Amino acid sequence: MFELTEEQIAVRDAARDFAQMELLPGVIERDEKQQFPVEQVKMMAEMGFMGMMTSTDYGGSGMDTVSYVLAMEEISKVDASCAVIMSVNNSLVCWGIEKHGTEEQKQKYLTRLASGETIGAFCLSEPEAGSDSTSQKTSAIDQGDYYLLNGTKNWITNGKSSGICVVIAQSHLELRHKGINTFIVEKESEGLVVGKKESKMGIRSSDTHSIMFTDVKVPKANRIGEDGSGFKFAMAVLNGGRIGIASQALGIASGAYELALSYSKERVAFGKPIAQHQAIQFKLAEMATKIDAARLLVLKAARLKDEGKTFVKESAMAKLFASEMAQQVTNEAVQIHGGYGYVKEYHVERLMRDAKITQIYEGTSEIQKIVISRELLRS
Ligand code: CAA
Repeated sequence: MFELTEEQIAVRDAARDFAQMELLPGVIERDEKQQFPVEQVKMMAEMGFMGMMTSTDYGGSGMDTVSYVLAMEEISKVDASCAVIMSVNNSLVCWGIEKHGTEEQKQKYLTRLASGETIGAFCLSEPEAGSDSTSQKTSAIDQGDYYLLNGTKNWITNGKSSGICVVIAQSHLELRHKGINTFIVEKESEGLVVGKKESKMGIRSSDTHSIMFTDVKVPKANRIGEDGSGFKFAMAVLNGGRIGIASQALGIASGAYELALSYSKERVAFGKPIAQHQAIQFKLAEMATKIDAARLLVLKAARLKDEGKTFVKESAMAKLFASEMAQQVTNEAVQIHGGYGYVKEYHVERLMRDAKITQIYEGTSEIQKIVISRELLRS
């Protein structure tokens, strides 16, 4: 069922080579110094990874979602920070504008985003509206030709390094989620200020900031979709985004597993490589089984999306399972490495720290369970 095409295999192999050659050197240092991977993102743009699913008409690579998740897995194996930068740009920003934006918005913004000339940020979360995303306090009030944007967004991936933001805001408070709109906001807009950088446990070389909007004028032409369609827009892009995060979790786990496998073949204890001890064999068997199960869920969700079928439940299932699995597998990878697993040089401690965020962003595991159970009950 999941036989890959020659093209998909070529994309996966190119991403694997790229990650090994260009991302691996310096990944520990970038993590330690919280250094944004400027050069690496430029190279990802040259490889066509920043707008993988965007049509070539708008500067993208015109690939399918399966190719995208294969590339995401390979990049996440080595550098999950680069993976989240890529994921937000592809799934939450480019895909949303291509699917719901006007031709003018696509020409003006999507071409720049998909080609990687600039990168995008997705501004939904607020200090008091994370999981509860209908409770948007950022306001966008209609002033005729433009909207006036006021409020604060939190936990914004690509917060500083982005040139364009997709911002969700409330235009008609009394209508709750039916009053929410989405806007394309240029970073240079007067009144837009990038706030403090978060010092994070994992994905430390991606930049996460708050962004403040004070009387920012956003042209009406920059609203995406009909008045009041913003919440549905956010939910739709998150459904797709969750496939990207699931593949990120999958990549983090498979990266940790591969390291643990090769370490266990080399490391000798009690007279033989530790891979010859059943205690380690059982761990490896469980890790590989969980990774394979997650991969099948990720590919299923990606394929449904490519076929134009509904994938709300499947993307949430893939994200839920892959992110929980990544926690367990990276933890075991550290355990197999013993003391070496606890130091930075061996990479697995970073992968363990990186894995945690996949259970939190683009909806916590608890949110995924809400999404899945609602879909089950609906049917
Ligand atoms: N797909 C499509 N539509 C959906 C949907 C989904 N997954 N979830 C809800 N909707 C629709 C509902 O059908 C409903 O539509 P109607 O008004 O037509 O009936 C509407 O949206 C409102 O839905 P609910 O009444 O169910 O809303 P709710 O307040 O109970 O919240 C929720 C639903 C699932 C909890 C939602 O708020 C949610 O997904 N929260 C998590 C938000 C999130 O993932 N935030 C992450 C921030 S982005 C990020 O992390 C990016 C990054 O940096 C990496």
